[in-house]
Amino acid sequence: MPATQADAIAALRASQRSDVPAFIVMDVMQAAAEQEALGHKVIHMEVGQPGTPAPRSALAAAAKALESQTLGYTLALGMPALRERIARYYAERYGAAVEPERVLVTTGSSAGFVLAFLALFDTGAKVALPSPGYPCYRHILTALGQSATLIETGDASRWMPTGADIDAAVRKDGVRGLVVASPANPTGTMLEPARLGELAAACRRNGIWLVSDEIYHGLAYGMREETALAHSDDAIVVNSFSKYFSMTGWRVGWLVVPSALVRPIERLAQNLYISPPAVAQVAALGAFDGLDELEANKRVYAENRALLLGELPKAGLERIVPADGAFYLYVDVGDFTPDSHAFTKEMLVEIGVAATPGVDFDAGRGSRYVRFCYAGTTAGIAEAARRIRGWRRLAARA
Ligand SMILES: Cc1ncc(COP(=O)(O)O)c(C=O)c1O
Repeated sequence: MPATQADAIAALRASQRSDVPAFIVMDVMQAAAEQEALGHKVIHMEVGQPGTPAPRSALAAAAKALESQTLGYTLALGMPALRERIARYYAERYGAAVEPERVLVTTGSSAGFVLAFLALFDTGAKVALPSPGYPCYRHILTALGQSATLIETGDASRWMPTGADIDAAVRKDGVRGLVVASPANPTGTMLEPARLGELAAACRRNGIWLVSDEIYHGLAYGMREETALAHSDDAIVVNSFSKYFSMTGWRVGWLVVPSALVRPIERLAQNLYISPPAVAQVAALGAFDGLDELEANKRVYAENRALLLGELPKAGLERIVPADGAFYLYVDVGDFTPDSHAFTKEMLVEIGVAATPGVDFDAGRGSRYVRFCYAGTTAGIAEAARRIRGWRRLAARA
């Protein structure tokens, strides 16, 4: 028992496990909102989200449900009709047979990661993550008492890990799994089918889990996306309605897992979340009737991507990681600054363009990179490109 009342109060502090770094992109969003409150027009290229709403069919389904359904808790693993529809999507899109029982609906893919990491890895486990990469994988692992072994990627490996990298991470750190995203965030690079097969084989020979984040599937501009399920029955696939389906705020995603993991994850989901949001699940089911609209969104992204790939080099930003998908360009700004965080702050204040510093994705090399998201309107992206080209900060060096 603490000796004094002051000691007792001092003992009330946040846990060590909660001491995870901020998700910097959310801080940039906050700074952008402050600029807007001052009356400045900001072009948002920081947050990875479509500027479009959910497809009309999703909105109609949600509106009807609000009028006619109770919208109470659903089953912990999601509405059976949605699980079945997602399973059918695998047949339609990839020609892959997936039993609906293996599809688990989650509160965004973010909750999917929490459930998967809890079900797959014990406290203290190490998990291999490519760097640069999505920061929340690392931070979720930390909060769960697990940790990341970073695999540095670069031009030589098209910014993706190799089978040899996995062997080395197992030898060196005894990692228990690999998390890989293709298309990737922040780079937009993709695994060719053969490389995905190589990673699946490396995970199998080492007896470690393969977690495949397929949240940017549907958003590839030339290369074919392949699901990890084509290479491994043991893979855990994570996906979401946030990106291709244009439904970030609805908070609904899914996992496809081996049968043996269904019940452990169901128990975790019951206790942690009870169920994913009911109205969002109804909307997600409706979204499958709006695929034409989503393809039209994708054509806008393709146009925005081409526009930026043409315009950024004219501003002196020539070194762009070869992005095959998602809606990001990861740009080397090292000729202009050793500090991408300061660079993005100046860019926001001076020309009203919000973008995310690479340090969010790669604590070391990220200080010379900036990620631009091009999921907004083409007019907005064109205006951003015009502002960037006219920015004195770049003109001085270009
Ligand atoms: C690679 C990647 N995975 C997962 C997520 C989480 O998305 P959500 O929880 O909205 O499904 C994001 C969000 O930006 C992401 O970029």
